[in-house]
Amino acid sequence: MLKASLNSIQRGAIIAQDVYGNDGILLIKRGTEYRETYAPRFKEAGVQEIFIEPSGELTKESVAQIRQSLNIHDVVQEKTRLHAQNQIKKTMLRFKTVTNSDIQKITGIVEEMIEQLLEQKDFVFALSQLRSVDDYTYQHSVNVGVLALIIGIDLKLNRVQLKDLGTGAILHDIGKIMISEEIIKKPGRLTKDEFSEVKKHTLFGYEILTQTNISEEAAQIALHHHEKYDGTGYCWGLRNTKIPLYARIVAVADVYDAMSNDRIYQKKLRPDRVYREITHLGNTHFDTQIMETFAKHINIYPNGTGIILNSGHRGIVLYQNKLYPESPVVRVFTPNEQNFRKMYFDLDLSMNTKWFIVDTY
Ligand SMILES: [Fe+2]
Repeated sequence: MLKASLNSIQRGAIIAQDVYGNDGILLIKRGTEYRETYAPRFKEAGVQEIFIEPSGELTKESVAQIRQSLNIHDVVQEKTRLHAQNQIKKTMLRFKTVTNSDIQKITGIVEEMIEQLLEQKDFVFALSQLRSVDDYTYQHSVNVGVLALIIGIDLKLNRVQLKDLGTGAILHDIGKIMISEEIIKKPGRLTKDEFSEVKKHTLFGYEILTQTNISEEAAQIALHHHEKYDGTGYCWGLRNTKIPLYARIVAVADVYDAMSNDRIYQKKLRPDRVYREITHLGNTHFDTQIMETFAKHINIYPNGTGIILNSGHRGIVLYQNKLYPESPVVRVFTPNEQNFRKMYFDLDLSMNTKWFIVDTY
């Protein structure tokens, strides 16, 4: 049995519990199929949520329904994200040039993103969207922009700096348009020569961007986003604070987003693994302060994440335990249970050492 808000219930869902109005009058009996036409009557009687039966096995739809009822929303609006994605796609598909008008459009979208982010009290980044491998580069570019802005806001950069940071972050990999698709999309390991070719995207990106009216600081993101804090990165092998601040920020955002998603040559890692790897790389790859700033804004298991427990049960994350980010409160489903009252139970994993998350879905 799932609790669902009236707006999220799909027609045909089976109502799992008798629904009573605030005045105690029975509105509808358990077992009835839900119809949209019931909604106004329910709302009038003060009913906002009802229990519905999960449709057998957990389906994508029922998980989506629960997510919706948990009120999970993206940190920037879907419309803005798509707008950004289409713009960067257009820019990257054009034949090896970036125009001032491209820069202006991307900066305009970045301004929208900044407004939306500043409106939020607590922006925890939720990786909620599903991505296609085909559009990976564009979606990745936009995400790196959003993540860089989240760090920048926390570091108290001013609006002009944020605009520069966001625009440069979205364009960080623009140099890839100069490298053959064969290498960029190669599924297997790159040869030494191919890798040296790929490395050049930083130089190409910088060259392309310095021919536009983008600021020098933003263009340097393209040049230095693969530098590592210990000096082992490329293309110049800069170390510590010799690496420009924006590039240090984008380095964290870039690696985090890349690890969190399927790429052509590598499957995505589980969110807890990503979290651990990123925090582990703090001393070598990243500026520790920036990495820690970033870590505050990601949940290991964001609310709504589908999880699999060591017992084999499936569930979904309901709430976070701030002190124990690896052990959230979860709703565990028991779809084979005949008694509908027992079809799920809620479990605080921080209070229970026998149960733990082994996978996500
Ligand atoms: Fe890159």
